[in-house]
Amino acid sequence: MKIEIHDTFESKLPEGDTHPYRSGAWRPQHVEYDAYELDVVEGEIPDDLEGTYLRNTENPLLPPISRYHPFDGDGVLHSITFGGGEAQYHNRFVRTDGFELEREAGEHLFAGAAENPKLAKRECSLGARPNMKDASSTDIVVHNGRALSSFWMCGDLYAFDPVTMESLGKADFGGAFPKEGVSAHPKIDEHTGEMLFFNYGTEAPYMHYGVVDAEGRLAHYIDVPLPGPRLPHDMAFTERFAILNDCPMFWHPDLLKRGHYVTTFFPDMPTRFAIVPRRGETSEIKWFEADPTFVLHWINAYEDGDEVVLDGFFQENPSPDRREAESVEDAMFRYLDLHSMGAKAHRWRFDLKTGETKEEHLSDTIQEFGMINGRYGGRKHRYSYNALPAKGWFGFEGLIKQDVETGREEVVRLPEGTYASETVMAPRAGSSAEDDGYLITYTMDVVNDRSECLILDAASPSAGPVARVSLPERICSGTHAFWHGTAAS
Ligand SMILES: [Fe+2]
Repeated sequence: MKIEIHDTFESKLPEGDTHPYRSGAWRPQHVEYDAYELDVVEGEIPDDLEGTYLRNTENPLLPPISRYHPFDGDGVLHSITFGGGEAQYHNRFVRTDGFELEREAGEHLFAGAAENPKLAKRECSLGARPNMKDASSTDIVVHNGRALSSFWMCGDLYAFDPVTMESLGKADFGGAFPKEGVSAHPKIDEHTGEMLFFNYGTEAPYMHYGVVDAEGRLAHYIDVPLPGPRLPHDMAFTERFAILNDCPMFWHPDLLKRGHYVTTFFPDMPTRFAIVPRRGETSEIKWFEADPTFVLHWINAYEDGDEVVLDGFFQENPSPDRREAESVEDAMFRYLDLHSMGAKAHRWRFDLKTGETKEEHLSDTIQEFGMINGRYGGRKHRYSYNALPAKGWFGFEGLIKQDVETGREEVVRLPEGTYASETVMAPRAGSSAEDDGYLITYTMDVVNDRSECLILDAASPSAGPVARVSLPERICSGTHAFWHGTAAS
């Protein structure tokens, strides 16, 4: 492996840090690498694997004002690019406006997710919550040839070359980037080249939905009026429709009036879904109701006759019970334990003619962070590749391939002390079957202090690695990933 250090940043975090989301699988990085001719420690990189696996992670350099939440960390993007049986790797901090201001100040200036916004030493109005740093550390997609990182509380989209991770500034949507920002989880339709997105906030109409065309220009932007501020995290689409959601878990309105951002589940309220033609107007939104829950991530959606079918992860207990003698930190981290929340694969069917909703679990296995073959986005899919959450904290012990036609689940469990990232499906060059390709993830091995890129056969992931490729350094666990394929289909 040829490793070049691109840049090194000073970390002011304590030596021997024991914070659960700044240690172990979540230990932050502070070095940027360019690495070529990566070492393959098992198997071979397939010749028909062509494209880039991108990942976003949270990496704080500075102690918080008072309390660190893992989603406050500065974004570090990772790319590993395959072609001709070889791999190269690059990682870069997202040099957000907030990142630069805090580096200059040498201290945390903005309030995090677990802190009162009044604690901030500097004001900031971009995003759903005031005085929060848009860390651009949640999600990453590739659109119009550029990698775009995004933030869960809305903000800018920072642009990069998807292979080298060279900064390309911010997305401006042809001069029409919304002043409300863009939420994490914009969706790419591989068939049209469009990017669909949403944002949310504390000012009416509380949500917007938009479409960016294949050339990166804002083509459509509408209000999605809600009864009050909400916390949608993800959206879905079919060939003709976009699907937005209003789950009954949001900042308590009475406390919000006093400036406290306290996420609260309202079990007597329904979950509501907005289904709107992809270029439709606000007046064309059809609303559906379903059982109360909070859904962090959707898997996919598609049309089936008069019905829109939506798969995602239903939380049976979105607001887990307090534990005995719980610290403020522990109370906050309950919302990161997907086992406590009971996240299960679930299917909603919305009848566009009658307005009725039907819903059912697809499985009783706790799972989340579902990915599909991107060519099936908005189209009927059979397989999803979902993360297998660890118990009691936010980490992934492996992955599950779920076949929604037969109900079969194939589980890949990693060795004790090794954790997976969100796993993408990379179709093989020239593939035609939905699961003809590779599953790609990064691992965090805290026992041997190393990270690898793990490549599995998507048709039979439990058969063992196709290849294991070394990375220069152990990465931080982080959240979302994306596959940018460059092979002809
Ligand atoms: Fe997410």
